[in-house]
Amino acid sequence: MSFSRRSLLGLRELSAEEILYLLEEAKAFRKILERDVKRVPTLRWLTVVNLFFESSTRTRISFELAEKRLSADVVNFSKSTSSVSKGETLRDTVNNILAMKVDMVVVRHRSVGAAQYIERTANVPVINAGDGANEHPTQGLLDLYTIQEKFEQFNGLKVVILGDIRHSRVARSNIWGLKKLGAKVVLCAPKTLLPPEPDVFGVDYTTDIEEALSGANVVNVLRLQLERQQVGYIPSLREYRMFWGLTAERTKFLDPDHIIMHPGPLNRGVEIDPDVADAADSVILEQVTNGVAIRMAVLYILAGKIKE
Ligand code: CP
Repeated sequence: MSFSRRSLLGLRELSAEEILYLLEEAKAFRKILERDVKRVPTLRWLTVVNLFFESSTRTRISFELAEKRLSADVVNFSKSTSSVSKGETLRDTVNNILAMKVDMVVVRHRSVGAAQYIERTANVPVINAGDGANEHPTQGLLDLYTIQEKFEQFNGLKVVILGDIRHSRVARSNIWGLKKLGAKVVLCAPKTLLPPEPDVFGVDYTTDIEEALSGANVVNVLRLQLERQQVGYIPSLREYRMFWGLTAERTKFLDPDHIIMHPGPLNRGVEIDPDVADAADSVILEQVTNGVAIRMAVLYILAGKIKE
C-alpha cells in the first residue's frame, strides 16, 4: 500500500487503506521524537510555508516542529502581519509566495474549501490545517493514531464525539476517519450544536449525554466555540456545563477501558472539568505529541511525490 495523492485536503476522500498507511508511517517518526537527537536530514531540500489565516497554537507549532525535525526550511506566515491587511487576495498571496520557489503549502483558513482552492491553482502539495467547519485532517489522523495506540484496532470501539459538533472541523475529520476504520461513532450535543443535517454522516446521534457515554471506549470532547455563541445556541456557559460538560460523575458511564480526548484549546470548567482533563485516563497531551509524528509522516510522504 502507498499514498498516491499529491495533497492532504481531508479524510472524507481517503480510503481506509490510505488512512492506515499514514498511521503506520507515523510510528517510525513517533520513535524519532523519543531520541536525544530528534532531527533527521530527510527533507533538507524542501521549503515549506505555513500559511495561517486563523489563530493556532498546537497545529502551527506542531507543523513547524515537524518540518524542522525533518530539516526542511520553514517560512511562517500570519495574516495579521501580512499584506492581507492591505487587501491582498488569497490567490495573490499564495502566488507571490510560490514565486519565491516554495515546495509545499500548509494552510489554515476560516473559509471552507480554501485548501482545495489553493491546490487547484498551485503546482505544489497542499496540506489542509483546517478550513472553516469542514475538515482538519491532520487532527483527525492524530486522534486516530492516539486511539490505535491504546486499543490497536477500531472495530467494535464505541467513540463519542461530544460538544459543539455544528462548528467543528475536528468532528468532521474524526467522523469520516473513524467510520472508514470500523468504529461505532455517536455524536452527542444539544440540538442546536448538532450539525444541521446529522443524517448525512451516517452515524448515530443523540442529545442524551448519559445514553451516549454509556459503555463508550473513547470520548472526544470538543471545544465550545465561544466566539460563535452570541447567537444563542446555548442558554449560558453554566447550563452548558451542567447538561453537556464532561464531569467526573459522567465518566462513570464510560466503559472501564476508556480514554478521554480533546483537540484543544480547552475551556476548563465548561465542556470539560479540570479534574477530568488532567486525570490518568486523559490522553490530551499524548494527542499533541502524536500530532508532531503524524505531521512528519504527512510531510515526508507528500514530499516524496515531488521527487517522483
Ligand atoms: N487542535 C487545534 O487545531 O488547535 P489549534 O487551534 O491551537 O491549532
